[in-house]
Amino acid sequence: MGALAAREDEWDFDWLDDIIGRLATAGIDIDLATSTASPPAWLTRKHPEILPITRVGEVVNQGGRQHWRPTSPVFRRYALEVTRQLATRYGRHPAVVAWHVNNELGGANVFDHSDDATAAFREWLRRRYGDLDALNKSWGTAFWSQHYSEWSEILTPVRAGAQNNPGQVLDFRRFSGDALRDHLAAETAVLRELSPGVPVTTNFMVAANYKDIDYSAWAEDVDFISNDHYLMPGEGMIDELAFSASATSALADHRSWWLMEHATSAVNWRRVNTAKRPGQLERDALTHLGHGADAICYFQWRASDAGGERFHSAMVPHAGRNSRVYREVVALGEDLRALRDVAGTASLPAGVGLVFDYESWFVLRGDSLPSSGWEYREELVRWYSRLLDLGVRVDVINPRNDLGHYDLLVAPLLHLVPLSLAARLQDAVENGTHLVTTYFSGIADEHARVYLGGYPGALRDLLGVRVDEFRPLLPVDTVDITDREGKTTHAGTWCENVSVTCDNVAVLRSYAATDANALAGIEAGGAAVTRRQVGEGSATYVSTKLSDEALRELLGELAHAAGVSPDLPEPLRGEAVAAVRRGEGADYWTLTSRGHGDLDIDVAASLGGELLVGGPRLSRDEAVVVKVPRDAPGSRAR
Ligand code: GLA
Repeated sequence: MGALAAREDEWDFDWLDDIIGRLATAGIDIDLATSTASPPAWLTRKHPEILPITRVGEVVNQGGRQHWRPTSPVFRRYALEVTRQLATRYGRHPAVVAWHVNNELGGANVFDHSDDATAAFREWLRRRYGDLDALNKSWGTAFWSQHYSEWSEILTPVRAGAQNNPGQVLDFRRFSGDALRDHLAAETAVLRELSPGVPVTTNFMVAANYKDIDYSAWAEDVDFISNDHYLMPGEGMIDELAFSASATSALADHRSWWLMEHATSAVNWRRVNTAKRPGQLERDALTHLGHGADAICYFQWRASDAGGERFHSAMVPHAGRNSRVYREVVALGEDLRALRDVAGTASLPAGVGLVFDYESWFVLRGDSLPSSGWEYREELVRWYSRLLDLGVRVDVINPRNDLGHYDLLVAPLLHLVPLSLAARLQDAVENGTHLVTTYFSGIADEHARVYLGGYPGALRDLLGVRVDEFRPLLPVDTVDITDREGKTTHAGTWCENVSVTCDNVAVLRSYAATDANALAGIEAGGAAVTRRQVGEGSATYVSTKLSDEALRELLGELAHAAGVSPDLPEPLRGEAVAAVRRGEGADYWTLTSRGHGDLDIDVAASLGGELLVGGPRLSRDEAVVVKVPRDAPGSRAR
């Protein structure tokens, strides 16, 4: 905003005309952002009432970015004016092929506790509940004098003397996401009016470092999905990248999407910002492409010499064009040309789905739980990794997606299960889906209220088990689990005495008769993992956190029983993440090395296809793309 107007009503478009003209002449398409993410200093000086307020009452000042209240009518007015100016000037420019609303909505300002936010929260609650009785009942306010008699008594969950009400916290998270959706809708309306036919998007943050917005409803607000992803260096980084890319693809309902930002090498905001090794730049880009990304964009073009991001990597680094990174960017550009036919193709859904539910994550990150010995997303990525070990493709989906599509549907720690979701799961299982869930799933409804009568609440009948007490474990403690061959492994974090309540429930793993189990209060020989046959499918309950090895084995057994066979040929199983996009007459397989080492296998031949990029073998930091004609004898796609 500031670069376009150094003062109110003093517009300067010359520099942007110049850039847009130069890009157009060079044949480069433009996704033009509306520039509203960062208000200029004159605006916050004139209208300090647009600045957000934290939950302890501090003002978030100008000097960084995203210092605006999502619900401020004053900010909204200025944001729409700059959007209008841009759309009027460039809305019909042939090089402008997409609009990009704001930037990373809610990156720094998702939770605002200002008076604007408080008023808007009350309005949002009024629309959701209709009357105060319903709100009091849903939140369970007959507790610590939290009962409300007037809407004006309700606050956002600001710092209080003890824990905030869990229903209030959950609703505030939902409201905060919706407030940003309103902003998105307001800018989008201006763009649609003044720049008809040019698609509108905004960059989501489905990545390990962002956790505050549930995007599952946002897909309907944009013309196409785009995402920003920054690699989390370290062990498991490729699994995390693929997990995020797959979750983005599910938001796009398997249609193609844009990778709006990632990094050519290091970022500047971790404690140690490691650089990518040669090859990893292309590997990461191709992995996103394999999961549906049509555009592979970077933050940023040229590394700056000043400002808070001066040590962030770029396409043109500080060293200039005579640099490894620049050469790899150019090489990637050439390889992407060879993949032209992939653009626009949809992702081919997998046979295995993993449910990633932001609302459960919201609650599991809250306070006053039986344990905080877990990190929900990390635990989901661990399950995803163990499924990848089996050589199967996995879709990371959200509860709005089609659950019944999957032969094997895995939903660890699915804490919030409204009755409508329980019914959809029941329906999927009866019709042939094999569901696997865990401890602390099905416990609460959409208000975070606990279902009474025994755990796992809403899923109790479907699973055919009942638990009357949680037994979380201290980090140093473990319990012992025995499989059907009598092999014993350690498990941790949580355990339970599970009662089987139906006769068609098989016990797949038991708690062993050991001192550790006795100390944890666990009955020797009790069920640890159960599986109930239901209709055409089954429902499995895992009552403890299994070790990696035990989890891999269990998932292998369950996949087999669900009729899911590995998508990858034997030597590639566990070594690569596979993603498939379906073109006319051919499938495009992207295989990304999970980094264990170089493989001695002709990847294209093993899939019965032709190598388009990379290879012929899969090296440690590589991804390859193989075109497999659909009628090829070796074609493995269903
Ligand atoms: C975000 C922002 C970019 C930049 C990068 C740095 O994704 O959208 O403007 O700050 O982070 O990693």
